[in-house]
Amino acid sequence: MAVYTPHKIILFGEHAVVYGYPALSAAVDLFARISVIPSRNGAQFSTFVNRTLNYLGLKDVIVKVETQVPSGSGLGTSSMIISGILYHERNYDKESLAREAFEIEYSVQGSGSPIDTTTIVAGGYVLTNGSGGIPLWTVEKDTRKWNFSSIPAKAIDLVIVYTGSKGSTREQVAKVRKFYERGKLAKDVMESIGNITSEGAREVIRGNLDKIGELMNENHSELKIFGISTETIEKVVSLGRNYGYGAKLTGAGGGGAVIILPKDREKLRAKLREMNLMFFETATTNVGIFRERQEPQDLGTQSG
Ligand code: MEV
Repeated sequence: MAVYTPHKIILFGEHAVVYGYPALSAAVDLFARISVIPSRNGAQFSTFVNRTLNYLGLKDVIVKVETQVPSGSGLGTSSMIISGILYHERNYDKESLAREAFEIEYSVQGSGSPIDTTTIVAGGYVLTNGSGGIPLWTVEKDTRKWNFSSIPAKAIDLVIVYTGSKGSTREQVAKVRKFYERGKLAKDVMESIGNITSEGAREVIRGNLDKIGELMNENHSELKIFGISTETIEKVVSLGRNYGYGAKLTGAGGGGAVIILPKDREKLRAKLREMNLMFFETATTNVGIFRERQEPQDLGTQSG
């Protein structure tokens, strides 16, 4: 048996969501296959994996994660691994799974929001702290609270570009926190990102690619103020602006990935190849975490 989990992107509102502002995220049609296999070979795992195995009281196992996407790309790998192991081992309903996966992620990262865990568990477009949509669940941590709802909208095509360097969510969230604590300018930027997200959610429902692209560009310009962009991110974003409707960094930044809403796919492909960057041509998907159907056991071929 194995569990499949989609990767996730944030269309609008990363970082601001940590402080309770709205964000719009989505599962994308790039899946990881996660399995937990008995073994006595004592392999080395990441802190996320170890914490999850300890939580479940699991010993003598190997966790196998199969995905084309590099870790540290801002596409939800740690949330996926935690949720994948939990779902592999226990019969959770989706809400409890999203909640417990977030608790484990938070215990390792010490910061952040439950947006990644909820998005990969629920699938589809997930609106955090916005109005409208179909209510999913609420997650609380200390004095903070995130309301999640599902936004019914058509899938959109995306090109996801890995910048070639990992971004550390923990470090980038800490950097933005310092900025946020400095005062009014930071709060204004967060508020502006919140407004972009609310407008973005309406345009995603309408399927207005021109407007979605424009808002992605605006959101990226705001994120740059936090100092979380890099030279490669900027190069890819400007390419995305030239050959797509819009582009922005996605996730924590400081490396990781850029999302482009593609227009001239041929040119975009050629330019990305020239830059020698890994990219994925994909789309948003309604499919959240799921278990692989167990194949019927091979009982041998009967003849006669
Ligand atoms: C990470 O995918 C998004 C951030 O907003 C952090 C978080 O919400 O946990 C940067």
